[in-house]
Amino acid sequence: MPSNSALFPRKFRKEYPLAVRGEGCWIIDQSGRRFLDANGQAAVVSIGHGVPEIGRAMAEQSSRIAFAHTTQFHSEPAEKLAKRLLALGPPSFRAGRVYFISGGSEATETAIKLARQFHLETGQPSRYRVVSRRQSYHGSTLGAMTVSGNVARRAPYQPLLAEWGHIAPCFCYHCPFDKKFPDCGIACANDLDSFLGANDAASVAAFIFEPVVGATLGAAVPPDGYAKRIAEICRNRGILLIADEIMSGMGRTGKPFAIQHWNVEPDIILIGKGIASGYAPLGAVLVAPRVVEAVEVGSGAFHHGFTYQAHPVATAAGNAVLDYIESRSMFDLVQPAAETLRAELLALTSHPHVGEIRGLGLLLGIEFVKNKSTREPFPKENNVAERIRQAAFDEDVLVYPTQGCVDGINGDHILLAPPFILSQPESAQIARALHSALQKVFPA
Ligand SMILES: Cc1ncc(COP(=O)(O)O)c(C=O)c1O
Repeated sequence: MPSNSALFPRKFRKEYPLAVRGEGCWIIDQSGRRFLDANGQAAVVSIGHGVPEIGRAMAEQSSRIAFAHTTQFHSEPAEKLAKRLLALGPPSFRAGRVYFISGGSEATETAIKLARQFHLETGQPSRYRVVSRRQSYHGSTLGAMTVSGNVARRAPYQPLLAEWGHIAPCFCYHCPFDKKFPDCGIACANDLDSFLGANDAASVAAFIFEPVVGATLGAAVPPDGYAKRIAEICRNRGILLIADEIMSGMGRTGKPFAIQHWNVEPDIILIGKGIASGYAPLGAVLVAPRVVEAVEVGSGAFHHGFTYQAHPVATAAGNAVLDYIESRSMFDLVQPAAETLRAELLALTSHPHVGEIRGLGLLLGIEFVKNKSTREPFPKENNVAERIRQAAFDEDVLVYPTQGCVDGINGDHILLAPPFILSQPESAQIARALHSALQKVFPA
């Protein structure tokens, strides 16, 4: 950060280069240095940087009409994008509705309030709590932090957060029940049922989960049967199921939504990040017909709203990104690109401190452990994930570091979530940079 900056930064003791240009999987800074964007800027950039068609579509929309308030008008691009997103979702969503907002946290806030209102509309006013999982992240606003189970991000704001309850994470590499799949009987899914049974189930409105846990656990994929069991428990208990696909959605795992790998039909799906590939701040809440109907035939109004919801220029960006994806069948690029990247990363798995490389599609995590056989993490103070990030950055490759995957405090991993157009030479460059980062951080 230049000393004359007027920006309130994420971290005051960190230098931030200025991003001045983007091309495909690359970001170029003010000095002309080129960085390979192996994390897609936190799993946002799917189609790549610098696609001129998107900006042109946004400019065209802006010159026709940039803004009209949703209390008075709907707009063509928002109407069009809503229909297209519902068509991508599970079959039951075809007759649903979409609520557009400006990002992930607003999507979570909207879902929490909608779940509450659904139960008010259907004559169950006692229901308001949204239960979630430990080791999860659903956003940084207060409602979203309340459901987030990310210890470090919650800690400073604890007095401001309601306690609605968190169940066990689904994390086979560090199973909270010390069991192994399939003998475990998916104890972590059944934990929802036990929790509800013991904790005033009649006050619960919904359960929210990330089908593939992104930043907090480093792309932890549930075993087959987990998502189905969770959906079954929610149905039996009369609570809504909210799938937070803000990171895992819009093709990142190889299907439009990660829950489609397990044929699960939630009541609400949250989208952010990849929906506009970073070209505009945009998020969406996909709402299943039965939830829509409850409000439509009930009070007839959702008691919620943002000035910039369903913004015409942002939704025009969403349409242009989807045009670009569909005309190039880009969701189909994810699996082959992921296989190439995994093949390049394979050699890292024999490193004594690489515990696991995991994930689904182009949402991958690499966990670093002190002891590979016991899976013991490094002490937090060793700052392993951040040091790996810095060492990869020195090799011009951008990765997303996080600590806390083991217990909220300890455990180091990085996330890789590159654009879907990642090439074989780019995959090889990511692997080379990580190889040299490992050598630097763990010298022989
Ligand atoms: C799973 C998940 N939910 C919610 C959010 C919050 O989204 P935003 O940062 O756009 O508010 C994120 C952001 O990383 C996320 O990964």
